[in-house]
Amino acid sequence: MSSKEQTLSIIKPDAVERNLVDTIQKKFIDEKLKIVKAKKIQISKDEASEFYKVHQTKPFFDRLCSYLSSGPIVVMILEGNNAIAQNRLIMGSTDPKNADDGTLRKMYGLSIDKNTVHGSDSIENAKKEIDFFFKDNI
Ligand code: CMP
Repeated sequence: MSSKEQTLSIIKPDAVERNLVDTIQKKFIDEKLKIVKAKKIQISKDEASEFYKVHQTKPFFDRLCSYLSSGPIVVMILEGNNAIAQNRLIMGSTDPKNADDGTLRKMYGLSIDKNTVHGSDSIENAKKEIDFFFKDNI
């Protein structure tokens, strides 16, 4: 069964810095995900800590928040059939070393930290993450 969903995608600093935004957005479009909204922003470390708070007990939390706030990112709402799972397939495994051929993280990921893209992992988190970046409908 397929259902129309929205998910939150982030193009992380390593990819923005390497001018991969257009290439990554084309991949989403080619894979039938519509980019409903997109904006390039830079967030503070406090905002990154709030966004990633589900990981606050993890040993990599501080590093993760420093990294996400280290440079410009592009945040997007993607929409399509089973968009949450579809986006995760397009991204590949969290660690680029384990990602399948043809996935964004395999093609462009540099490390488990600099893994190029983030995507929501559930319907509940997609709603929260979309709201986090687009709550004022900007
Ligand atoms: P992301 O999908 O953005 O969600 C949390 C991020 O933490 C993840 O991608 C990785 O970039 C980063 N991370 C760093 N170390 C780990 C780890 N050991 N396990 C999972 N995620 C990690």
